[in-house]
Amino acid sequence: MNIEAIRKDFPILSDGTVYFDNAATHQRCVQVLDAMRDFSEHYNANPMRGLYKWSVEATERYESARHTVASFIGCRDSELIFVRNATEALNLVAYSYALSTLSEGDEILISVLEHHSNLLPWQMAAKAKGAALKFIEPRPDGVITVDMIEAALSPKTKILALTQLSNVMGTATPLKEAAELIHAKGGILVADGAQGLPHLETDVKAIGCDFYAFSGHKLPGPMGIGGLYGREELLEKMPPFLRGGEMIEYVTRDSATYAELPHKFEAGTVNASGAVGMAAAVEYMKKLDRKELEEHETKLISLIMKETADDPHIKVYGPEDPAEHHGIFTFNIEGVHPHDVAGVLDEDRIAVRAGHHCAQPLMEYMQKECGMEFRATARASVSFYNTEEEAVRFAAALKKIRGYMGYGA
Ligand code: ALA
Repeated sequence: MNIEAIRKDFPILSDGTVYFDNAATHQRCVQVLDAMRDFSEHYNANPMRGLYKWSVEATERYESARHTVASFIGCRDSELIFVRNATEALNLVAYSYALSTLSEGDEILISVLEHHSNLLPWQMAAKAKGAALKFIEPRPDGVITVDMIEAALSPKTKILALTQLSNVMGTATPLKEAAELIHAKGGILVADGAQGLPHLETDVKAIGCDFYAFSGHKLPGPMGIGGLYGREELLEKMPPFLRGGEMIEYVTRDSATYAELPHKFEAGTVNASGAVGMAAAVEYMKKLDRKELEEHETKLISLIMKETADDPHIKVYGPEDPAEHHGIFTFNIEGVHPHDVAGVLDEDRIAVRAGHHCAQPLMEYMQKECGMEFRATARASVSFYNTEEEAVRFAAALKKIRGYMGYGA
């Protein structure tokens, strides 16, 4: 991979900031910016409504974006619903699928690793239907094994909802095996791919999941656009999540019939330029060698680990093997709150995230199981455009923080 050439595609990186908050949002490449600008300058009209040229072309570009993104994750166009983000995708499944299929006494199984987006919708659905919400406990290094999933499933489990990659630990969940296990019980697998899709080559049919949620901005794409893959047979039976414009077939004063998939789930004016931007991000990712990308991210994490290994005050979470981190380095510095760590790093123009990472039950678990001093961590998350120099600069900055905060050596 030619990192210098890649960095030129991301103008924001040229100001010297070490951007290590890619798990929160990825930077956008010029190809994405150009595609969105081109849409706005030449085709901006409401898709699927107008009979004039601009509107027809806007529709074509929107549907072509759907095809690009659907092919990228290995599903049919009719099975890809454009949403705002992974959070909305998971809410769609909870409100539409879960509320229409669950019964009292059923179980929803998730893990302690989940982002709040893959927890709160299930809390809602469980409460509304009198179902139980159960949790798989991970290992303290963030690993969930097939055995753990198997042991937590019961004949009552109707929905298994798991992240593809933990946004805190970076660990991958064995989704393919999870799909087999839950299908054998007659339930379905919902996968949260927000963190996974940018790092792992993903084919939803090969995984065998029933739903897969993801966001455009975790790829080098825009915010405000995401996708939900749903198995056609399930989507066909599900009621709409939101109701209104363009998702109908016929409406009378007191009833409505709904449009074909995927439009049944895309009420209101869609984010067409966002979809075009996400498709451009996907085209960009397709040109990268995914294996090289993974190796590069592992090299950076390995370098950070090596450079900080001699500092006993830096506590790193997650597996020992840097390859299992998928670009995520979550840590704490003894005696220094992670918010202060992030603040001091910002003075060095290094951007990281600190706090609970929208995973408070995991923070609670880590405080107990990993002996965490705070119910929070700092997190550096690297991407394919980050360099070894940046990794070294980051590690050196970490080692100075305690001194800066007034601690002796
Ligand atoms: N879910 C995003 C993160 O982990 C925002 O930072």
